Amino acid sequence: MAGRVKVNLGDRSYYIHCGVGLLAEAGRLLKPLKLAAPCLVVSNPTVAELYWPQLEQSLREEGWQPHLTLVPDGEEAKSLKVAAELYDACLAAGIERGAAIMALGGGVTGDVAGFVAATWLRGIAFIQLPTTLLAQVDASVGGKVAVNHPRGKNLIGAFYQPAAVIADLDTLATLPPREMRAGLAEVIKYGVIADAAFFEYLEENIEKILTGDRELLERVVLRCCAIKAEIVAADERENDLRAILNFGHSLGHAFEAVGGYSTYNHGEAVALGMVAAARLAVRRSSFSPQESVRLVNLLQRTGLPVDLPPLKAQALLAALELDKKMRHGRLRMVIPERLGQVKITLVALEEILPLIS
Ligand code: NAD
Ligand code: GLY
Repeated sequence: MAGRVKVNLGDRSYYIHCGVGLLAEAGRLLKPLKLAAPCLVVSNPTVAELYWPQLEQSLREEGWQPHLTLVPDGEEAKSLKVAAELYDACLAAGIERGAAIMALGGGVTGDVAGFVAATWLRGIAFIQLPTTLLAQVDASVGGKVAVNHPRGKNLIGAFYQPAAVIADLDTLATLPPREMRAGLAEVIKYGVIADAAFFEYLEENIEKILTGDRELLERVVLRCCAIKAEIVAADERENDLRAILNFGHSLGHAFEAVGGYSTYNHGEAVALGMVAAARLAVRRSSFSPQESVRLVNLLQRTGLPVDLPPLKAQALLAALELDKKMRHGRLRMVIPERLGQVKITLVALEEILPLIS
């Protein structure tokens, strides 16, 4: 059981492979890329303990010489300090041009490993082996790589596409339920921004998906990746269309930041951001109250938060100002028009404050 999606970017095109048992197939799947034998595999202690043995075996069987290096588990791994340690690991492992850096883990590991791959020797091949649902449907695809600045998330980064993505659905079996739900927030996002039929499919199947049903998960991951691949192929560097992927993220990032990155994880914050965006669109009469209720119900059934936390205007402003979506004091926000269609609009802070106070 496996499928694949192509991200069409000319000579930088690549495949996203998705299915069961794929980590054990990684060595074979990556062989056509003709990479050098030494490679650096970046993971964290939690994920490496679970999945490094099978990945190592699969790579060695196909002639690679993989070197495992660990970053801390948690958002703090996305730092210039950790990136500097990874450059040292590249030197120690003899990672030269023609070799690859592989990220085995969630979005945190993928973002920092990708940042190092984009900059080591001015850029070497990068392979994503995402092990969270959020990374499989979003973070591993599309080439956004970054570390955080002490004053804001993802402020230091690049667009740097992977050479391949291998999403092994078996890894989701060990994912804590809270992380699974966080990934489903991004999944629901795809339904709202691009595919009403997919949204309906989620409404019909969410309980079964939450049980970890592999067949349904494969369909879900492939559909999300196909939507993202199409958007990234049309607007790789987020000049316009790609910004719709940020649905729920503008205010989501603020909820995340104000909560000190511990109250809400990324997916939970995005769920709240989607609720806020839907509420704002209903107030503007550009989204029907019935469809807004359908979105809130689906998020709730998924076990995601939907009650917007009250935020002080000052705290919101501070969080938003560091966000790359502010333009001349107004927030560039994605709001729904109907399920399956969104638009990008500028919103004054005075319009946002009543939603969260
Ligand atoms: P994460 O990488 O922190 O992983 C979540 C937790 O799950 C971690 O504790 C991790 O160790 C654990 N874990 C991972 N895989 C596991 C498995 N198979 N079994 C058991 N535990 C496992 O978080 P995430 O939600 O994957 O990613 C969030 C990060 O991704 C944020 O930093 C966010 O900014 C970034 N992101 C990037 C993009 C992009 O386009 N580059 C898109 C969305 C999010
Ligand atoms: N996660 C948003 C993007 O990749 O553009």
